[in-house]
Order: sequence, then C-alpha cells, then structure tokens
Amino acid sequence: MFGSLKALPADPILGLLAKYREDNNPKKIDLGVGVYKDEAGHTAVLDCVKKAEKYRNDNEDTKVYIGPTGSPLFNDEMTKLIFGEHKVINENRTRTVSAPGGTGALRVAAEFIKSCKPGATIWVSNPTWANHTGLFQAAGLTVKTYPYYDYENKCLDFDGMLAALKEVSADDAVLLHACCHNPSGMDLSTEQWHQITDVAKTNGFLPVVDMAYQGFGDGLEEDASGLRHLAEHVEEMIVCSSCSKNFGLYRERIGATTLVGKSSDAVDIAYSVLLYVVRVIYSMPPAHGAAIVETILTSDELRNQWFAELKEMRDRINGNRQLIVDKLKENGVTRDFSFITRQRGMFSFLGITPEQVQQLQDEYSIYMVGSSRMSIAGIANSNVDYLAQSIAKVL
Ligand code: LMR
Repeated sequence: MFGSLKALPADPILGLLAKYREDNNPKKIDLGVGVYKDEAGHTAVLDCVKKAEKYRNDNEDTKVYIGPTGSPLFNDEMTKLIFGEHKVINENRTRTVSAPGGTGALRVAAEFIKSCKPGATIWVSNPTWANHTGLFQAAGLTVKTYPYYDYENKCLDFDGMLAALKEVSADDAVLLHACCHNPSGMDLSTEQWHQITDVAKTNGFLPVVDMAYQGFGDGLEEDASGLRHLAEHVEEMIVCSSCSKNFGLYRERIGATTLVGKSSDAVDIAYSVLLYVVRVIYSMPPAHGAAIVETILTSDELRNQWFAELKEMRDRINGNRQLIVDKLKENGVTRDFSFITRQRGMFSFLGITPEQVQQLQDEYSIYMVGSSRMSIAGIANSNVDYLAQSIAKVL
C-alpha cells in the first residue's frame, strides 16, 4: 500500500523550524513560525500559566473522559472572551466545543460545514495562512480566494475584497481573520468590518472567523470588535479561536469552535452535529490546556496577571515593528518600509523576492517564509543590527 506514495515537501512553515534548529551559525535568526519570543529569543511559559498548572496539579482529582464538548467551564469562558457582553450570549445563541488548537478548531468547523452542505465552497483571503487551504480541502470543501492584500502598495485591496464578496452566494462560507491577519499583518478597519457585515447580511453567506491572535494586535477587546459587530447583524456564524499564542500554550493544543445560530433551538440542533463531527474525528479534546485557561480566566488574580503578560508580549512586538523600520533606515536602506508599523500581530510581509529570502537563509542564516512573511517576534535588540544589515545587503 505505502509503495504508491510520493514524498511530500516539508511544510512551508514548520519545515523552516527544523532547518533553523540544525543551523550552527551563532548569528542565526528565526523569523519563521508564528511563536512569541522574548528579548533573549526564548518562548517562556507565562507565569500565570505556571501558577494555574500548579493549582490544577494540586487539585485535579480525576482524569476520566470529559466528552466531545470538552470542559463546559472553558467553553463558557472562551465564549465570553470572544464576544464580551453580547446579544448572542444573552439570546443563548452560542455553543462552543474545546478543540485541539486553532487548527483543530478550524478542521472541526470545516467538517461541520461539510455536514451542512457537502462540497460547500469556502472563500479565503489572498493570501491566507498556508494551512487554511489544505485543511479545508482535506475536509472536502472547495476553496476559492478573494483579493485581500495589495502587494505593490503594501496595503489592503479592500475594493477588490468587497467586490468579490458581493458575488458570494448564501450557500458559501467566507473565512475572515478577526485580527493580526496571517500572513500580511494588514487588518480591516472598523469601517471596513461594517461594510463586510453589510455584505454578509445582504448575501447571507456564512462567516467563519479565525481568531488565532486575540490580544496580539491592539488589545483583547479591540481585536474582537470586528467579529462582535458582525455577530450583531448576521444570523449564523462560526468562530475558531486559539489559545496557542495569547496564553503561550502552543504544544498543549487548545482552542475552541463556537457556533452562533439563529435561535437557541436551532443552535442546539447544529451543536448535536458538531459533537458528532468531534466524536468521529478524535472523540474528545485534550483537557490540560483548557484546565489552565479556565483557571486563569476564573481567578481575578491570574486573569489580571495574564492581561499584563499579554500586554508585554503585544507591546514588544509592536515596538519591534518600529525598531526594524528605524534600523533599516540607519543602514542606508532607502526603500520605504514604514508599512510594517501600520500592520499588527505576529507577521509582516517584507516584500522582497523569494530569491532574496533564500539568500538571507543561505548566506546569513535568517529564516523567514518564502513569501517574505516575517515573524516580528523573532526580532530583538541583540539581532536587529545584523538583521537590518543583512536585508540591506540582499536588497
Ligand atoms: C504560523 O502561521 O506560523 C503559526 O500559525 C504556526 C503554524 O502552525 O503554522
């Protein structure tokens, strides 16, 4: 059976990590995978997570099965984190399952959409996270793209996006990034969210919102404001969220899929299908990450500590944006890179060619995705001069 297979290339994002780890150059810089790093280049466990883990360790009294929903407390807390005080919660129109990371949340959503309509089309932004297309196709959905990023002018192609979405029918789904667009870092403004909401309402397509970076852009509330506005006006939507980045729980694999339905009864029916989807894929989600998150979110002390730690990560990344722009100028680069400071979240497109990206890797041990997507968190005071000089050289 295996003999019929052809080897696949390494994943464009995860493959970079393996290459970086093998590189012996002491000056190497990892701007690849979307992982937060501190000034020392380390991805530490958050203090609030350490405390929550200790508390759980001391108090957990069973490892018995929890069921396809995952932890109900985690699900409630995540729903509140996503929507805040919102009519969809007051009207009892949301149902959430814990999922194995953001990817698991998206895959469950994709399988659920397939149950609603086999072979349904989902529209994704051009560009989008490298794994979106594969995971939706693997679930049997048809993937089409709408314009999003204007590579030449380093801004949003909002007219193109709006025009394309106006043609999307009520039978299709549309994937939107809540904030910190991956890979471009270019987000919708409040006004643009309102316009997208109007189109979603008029055309009746299903919005599927991927929120993998809540709190990494402008703040927890600010980053959710677009999807909250959308949820005010549409009857149905799906939100896929992740605790990998904002709680630093990457390898614990914890996220959530939240359904918003037309009514409490209607969403109950949809939820029963979602639970079946979970049952036949992985039966039930891992519990450890959910236990940490619910412990933090239900303790005033740990919650406040988490806010502070998240702010520190966000501020460092936003500071790095200005830092690299300044350093490029200082090193004689005349090309305008100021767009980097207008973007948000973990990533920016540097806008250099794939050949220049490869040259940075081969000659300077600087690793970024072939599209020139840089993970801004990998920049530090200790490496930014070398980075800016190297970029100046390949330019
Ligand atoms: C990324 O885009 O780098 C992250 O979301 C990690 C991943 O799984 O690709």
